[in-house]
Amino acid sequence: MNATIRAVTRVAAFKGFNVLGFCRGWEGLISDLVKPMSARSVSGIINLGGTILHTTRCPHIRTKAGLAKAAARLAEYDVDGLVVIGGDGSFRAAMALSELTDTPMVGIPATIDNDIYGTDETVGFDTAVNTAVAEIDKIRDTAISLDRIFVVEVMGRSRGFLAAMVGLTVGAEIILVPELPVREDEIFSVIKDNVSKGKRSAIIVAAEGIGDTRALSSAIEKNTGLETRLSILGYAQRGGSPTARSRYLASEFGKKAVELLAEGKSNCIVGLQNGKITSIGLRESAGASKPLDESILRLASILAT
Ligand code: F6P
Repeated sequence: MNATIRAVTRVAAFKGFNVLGFCRGWEGLISDLVKPMSARSVSGIINLGGTILHTTRCPHIRTKAGLAKAAARLAEYDVDGLVVIGGDGSFRAAMALSELTDTPMVGIPATIDNDIYGTDETVGFDTAVNTAVAEIDKIRDTAISLDRIFVVEVMGRSRGFLAAMVGLTVGAEIILVPELPVREDEIFSVIKDNVSKGKRSAIIVAAEGIGDTRALSSAIEKNTGLETRLSILGYAQRGGSPTARSRYLASEFGKKAVELLAEGKSNCIVGLQNGKITSIGLRESAGASKPLDESILRLASILAT
């Protein structure tokens, strides 16, 4: 997010706009937590995780009163264009707000879940993938040395984009995603089949949204007789210095968002589609579910034989 804030601020300043940062996201807009931004105020942040503006889940923006306050503040500050950096919750709020204000809004998809329709990739996804891969590579050492099965839970409350890419790139034996439920007995039989082929360890990458991974790991141990451990990677995936890829996307998306506002475009999100920086309507994005690329799962399963 910091690399995105930097890009938006610097491109806007370059074009001669005044830039305001609303601290704590929607909360800052509603509660008047505003910070003037300049090219200098975003110095030295391209390599930092998190956001210097801070952020919060803001239930207030889901209420009529909260939305009315946010619209009033936009008028009060004479905002000519609002850049919303975030995920589906932020964009849903932007859409609701667009009913109450004429202020043009452009969204920049920034979530490790990579679950925004209209972009092949979100800012932060690549960083989270690389963080998880680095951790699982270390876990694999124990798995192989001690002939153990590891269930590794990665983030993804309702979508499996992160699990799928992490699973493929660590060489996971099994990948579990919320979109495609797999029966426990199918998991046991893959593991037993692997044992018969001489494979005595396995990495199972599971998105948190598949259910109780602790119960799953106990069931695997009970049914296969192989020592099984659960490792939950947790919030480490949401922080840390962004990869070059995430910084690149942040920079391009930030530039595109400011350009769209400068051209008078509104209520859209920027994205990456087939290698090109593009945009689609906010409503179109919010109304559709991004399909999971199942070919990633098929490839991972072939490569894990
Ligand atoms: O940003 C989305 C996400 O990373 C989900 O994958 C995860 O379930 C969630 O955030 C957890 O965030 P929090 O506990 O802050 O609500």
